[in-house]
Amino acid sequence: MIISIAIQKGGSGKTTTAINLGAALRDRGHSVLLLDLDPQANLTQAMGFKEGDLAENIYHVLKNEAYGEATGVNINTILKEVEGMALAPAGLELAQAELELVSIFGRELILAEVLSKLERSFEFILIDCPPSIGMLTVNALVASNGYLMPLQSEFFPLNGVKSFLKFVQDKIQKKLNPAIELYGFVLIKHDPRITMHREVQGALQQLEHYEGRVFEAFIRPNIALAKAQEANKDIFLFQKNANGAADYRQLATEFLQKIAAA
Ligand SMILES: Nc1ncnc2c1ncn2[C@@H]1O[C@H](COP(=O)(O)OP(=O)(O)OP(=O)(O)O)[C@@H](O)[C@H]1O
Ligand SMILES: [Mg+2]
Repeated sequence: MIISIAIQKGGSGKTTTAINLGAALRDRGHSVLLLDLDPQANLTQAMGFKEGDLAENIYHVLKNEAYGEATGVNINTILKEVEGMALAPAGLELAQAELELVSIFGRELILAEVLSKLERSFEFILIDCPPSIGMLTVNALVASNGYLMPLQSEFFPLNGVKSFLKFVQDKIQKKLNPAIELYGFVLIKHDPRITMHREVQGALQQLEHYEGRVFEAFIRPNIALAKAQEANKDIFLFQKNANGAADYRQLATEFLQKIAAA
């Protein structure tokens, strides 16, 4: 099952959710691949790799797929094993892909083709998307069974959410991937004691055509989540008793229930 973690707004909690939801699924015995599709490569860094550590990353794989180059680099050769999960790393070069892919025939399907060539099977592939609606996010959504949208309750995110949903409807569902599902909105740094946060939650819960899609599990503000990322660890290995660990465990439980019921 392939899941994009996507929203065009920066700093929403995409990368944090990719790592820690992935780690929560790992801890339940599932096989997980984390795919970094963001040129910022925050996920790759959070998994312990610095810029320049890795000669090849998902950019080279996409490029080979797009141009049919036989360089020997493919999705299987770039995978790294980190703390019981596999990582498909990103690098700064990935920024070029946004432009380079535009002129390729079938440009929206390149990542889907790449993932169909995985030699190992994974129960869950989580794709950490960049904060934009470009070719990379399109490729992620076309390759995915569904997507999750993390949002911070401290900003009123409704306009951004609506425009992203419309983009998925118009650009992805109509032609490229009619079966894609919104698994739900995940509230990040959410504090139910704050009126504004409850208002954001309520407004999302009643969003036309998407009623009831807010996960009941939410992620509280928890500095350990940020510190874990700096320490190149997921929250379960960094501080297993942190609120962030409990919250991502809860999210994983609800997510698994949702997909089992679907
Ligand atoms: N629940 C939380 N409590 C405290 N800090 C958090 C929480 N979730 C995420 N953060 C921190 O907020 C910042 C933004 O989160 P993150 O990098 O996951 O967002 P993003 O959507 O991936 O950003 P970008 O769009 O730039 O890729 C990071 O520094 C992260 O450590
Ligand atoms: Mg990110």
